[in-house]
Amino acid sequence: MIHGSYYYYILLINIFIYFIGGLKSGSMKTEFIKRLSGEHTDHIPVWLMRQAGRYLPEYREVRKNAGDFLTLCYTPKLASEVTLQPLQRFDLDAAIIFSDILVIPHALGQKVWFEEGEGPRLDPIQSIDDLPEFNQDKFLNHLDPVFEALRLTRAALPDDKSLIGFAGAPWTLACYMINGRGSRDYQNVRHYTFQNPDAFQNIIDRLVDVISIYLIEKIKNGANALQIFDSWCGVLSVEEFDRWSVQPTAEIVRRVRKAYPDIPMIGFPRMAGYGYEDYVEKTGINAVSCDPTLPLSTLRAMQDHVCVQGNLDNLLLLKGGDAMVSQAKKICEALNDKPFIFNLGHGVIKETPPEHVELLIKTIKDFTRG
Ligand code: CP3
Repeated sequence: MIHGSYYYYILLINIFIYFIGGLKSGSMKTEFIKRLSGEHTDHIPVWLMRQAGRYLPEYREVRKNAGDFLTLCYTPKLASEVTLQPLQRFDLDAAIIFSDILVIPHALGQKVWFEEGEGPRLDPIQSIDDLPEFNQDKFLNHLDPVFEALRLTRAALPDDKSLIGFAGAPWTLACYMINGRGSRDYQNVRHYTFQNPDAFQNIIDRLVDVISIYLIEKIKNGANALQIFDSWCGVLSVEEFDRWSVQPTAEIVRRVRKAYPDIPMIGFPRMAGYGYEDYVEKTGINAVSCDPTLPLSTLRAMQDHVCVQGNLDNLLLLKGGDAMVSQAKKICEALNDKPFIFNLGHGVIKETPPEHVELLIKTIKDFTRG
């Protein structure tokens, strides 16, 4: 009898230590992580693309003091601070580490800068040989501030909040690297792929290597889930989409899964229209982020295979009020009986009043509070 209660006591202590250990490492399965893995939960998890950014006065303040946008990205304390800002204001389920997809070309030795009020600029490359020879230690060293920002943020986040790491997909990064700036249709880049398919393949292959390394390192440093942004894959034809978006993304997913089999991964093939279902089937991602052009019937069809995330129009968030609330409810009604996470179809626009975000999050939370 005495023996029995002794072992019972030891067992309880062990369960307690295991539980605390899990909490400390942030490895507790939040509702967000559960839904990404296909489990149902009572509440709808919500986060918003570009939830940290210029629509928040407290972001603009930190940004002003940091000076340059890239300096903000590479200063771990500040990057962590702005990552946490939206969670201090709103009842969000996840933080996305503050950084930019273009830190990868920068870490590869390409010149990258941000023109005030215009957007990113890069010194365009024509071939992978225009970049310095790849050195993995140098690459990771350059990105160490991003990893430190992840560690600081994970340590500061409550255990019921998840931390998302991200990268641009190879096609989207290659668009910026070759074109040197944003474009509506990336005609130059598509023309380049027809003229120089082998040289372009080399660029994509290098990007698959480094994005995989980068994402694995993000998990090591505290990311609980990953999102891959393919913001410009919508300009591709069906064959190009398969070769330059689907296949490279599938390879990244394979490599990351080899290192971390359980890490949930979200893909965002923005504006891919007809290509979404193929992307879901062939990349092996856990969840797909949906832009606002997709009908809810397509999102529902994809829910038989993956968790869907989306797809409120960011212009409705800018507008706010009844139009926003009724569309948000419609999305929840259509999708909440299967794996679903609420989000926008693209990032928060900088003119958006923070009160609109407040009302949107309350609408989503109230939906399952009854
Ligand atoms: O809160 C978050 O979502 C995390 C932060 C984040 C930023 N960029 C910060 C940022 C994320 C996830 C990104 C990803 C990103 N960056 C993408 C993919 C997502 C998408 O929007 O399609 C792309 C294509 C980029 C490249 C990029 N960076 C552009 C085109 C711009 C200019 C756009 C603009 O609104 O001016 C940036 C700059 C940038 N990245 C800002 C922020 C907050 C604004 C810079 C500033 O503060 O001055």
